Amino acid sequence: MTLALATAGESHGPALVAIVTGLPAGLTLDREAIDADLRRRQQGYGRSPRQQLEQDAVEVLAGLRHGRTLGTPLALVVRNRDHKNWTWGMSPWPPEGEPSGKGTKAVTLPRPGHADLAGVLKYGHTDVRDALERASARHTAVQVAAGAVAKALVSELGVSVAGTVLEVGGVVESWEAAIDAARGDRDTLGGVVEVRVTGVPPGLGSYASRDDRLDARLAAAVMGIQAVKGVEIGDGFALARLRGSHAHDEIETSRRRRSNRAGGIEAGVTNGEEIVVRAAMKPLPTLMRPLDSVDLATGEAAQALVERSDVAAVEALAVVAESAVAWELARAAREKFGGDALEDLLAAHRAYLDRIQWPRTP
Ligand SMILES: Cc1cc2nc3c(=O)[nH]c(=O)nc-3n(C[C@H](O)[C@H](O)[C@H](O)COP(=O)(O)O)c2cc1C
Repeated sequence: MTLALATAGESHGPALVAIVTGLPAGLTLDREAIDADLRRRQQGYGRSPRQQLEQDAVEVLAGLRHGRTLGTPLALVVRNRDHKNWTWGMSPWPPEGEPSGKGTKAVTLPRPGHADLAGVLKYGHTDVRDALERASARHTAVQVAAGAVAKALVSELGVSVAGTVLEVGGVVESWEAAIDAARGDRDTLGGVVEVRVTGVPPGLGSYASRDDRLDARLAAAVMGIQAVKGVEIGDGFALARLRGSHAHDEIETSRRRRSNRAGGIEAGVTNGEEIVVRAAMKPLPTLMRPLDSVDLATGEAAQALVERSDVAAVEALAVVAESAVAWELARAAREKFGGDALEDLLAAHRAYLDRIQWPRTP
C-alpha cells in the first residue's frame, strides 16, 4: 500500500489538477485547512501581484463524501483565476476568433536559469511558452493541496510538519529591506528554508535499498521543487568538517539522543528524533533587468523575456517544502502501517509503538 500523486496543469491554463491514490477510507479532511495552506503559499514579502489575483481555493471532484475519504482516488482542482486573461493564448483547443488577451505572441527569448531553452530544444517547441507554462512553480499550488491531505493523514499519527524561512538573500532576519533593494535594482533573491517534523517514531523508511531510504526520498521530493539547488538532512554539509566524535548523536538508556545532528534519520530510517530538512533556493530567474540571451527567431543576441514575476519566493518555498516533506512521511507511514480503513492504520501504528515500547505522541 503506497500513496501516489499525479498532477497536471499549466501556469495560465484553466486549472491545476491532482489525483491522489492510496489514501485510507475514513480520513476527515478540512477544506479550510487545505485552503489555509494554499493562502500561505501565496503570501510572503516579494511575491508578484498575481498572488492577489489568484486567491487559490481547492475543489474536490472525487474520492470524498461529506468530508471523509472513501479510500478511492481523490481528485483535487485549483482553478487559475488569471486564465480569464489568457483564454485565447492558453486555449486547450485551437482558439476561435481574433487573438486577444495575453499569450498571443510567441516567446522567443529564453531566460537563463529557467526551463525555456532546454525545454524548447527537448520538446521541439518554437514558442518558449509551451515549455515555461508547465515548468513554472504555479503548479506547486496543487502539490500544496495534496500536501495538506498528507498532513491530515500524518496528524492522525501525532506527526506535525512545519516549514520556516531561515534566510533570504543571505539575510537571516528582517529581509524585507533586502527584498526592497533587489526590487529597486530589478533583481531577484533566493534563500534557505527549513522543515521540521515532530512525533515520528523510529522505523519509517528503510536501509534495505536506495529507493527505500527516507533521507533519499525527502531529498528528491524537496529537490523536485522549482529553484531548489541544495538539500541537507540534519547538519548535512557541516558534518563533513567534523570528527566522528563530534558528529554523531549518542544514545541514552531511554534510547533518545543527546543531540540531533543526524536530523532524525540514520541509514535512511527515522530514529525517533525530530526530522530536520533544509533547502537552498537560487535567486529566481525572471529578472526585470533581463540577462543576456538569444532571440531564437532570429539567432541574434537579445535580452531575456521579462514577464510578471516574484522578486523572492522563499516564504512560499517554506510552505511547498513542508508539503513535500509531509507527503513523503505520509507515504512512508502508509507503507509501514497499511490498512484500507484509517482505523486499520491507527491500530497497526499503536501495535508497533507498543512492540518497540515507544511513547505515543499526545
Ligand atoms: C514558490 C515558487 C515561486 C516561484 N516564482 C518564480 C517567479 O515568479 N519567477 C521566476 O522566474 N521563477 C520562479 N520560481 C522558480 C522557477 O520556477 C524555477 O527557477 C524554474 O522553473 C527553473 O527550475 P530550476 O530553478 O529548478 O532549475 C519559483 C519557484 C518557487 C518554488
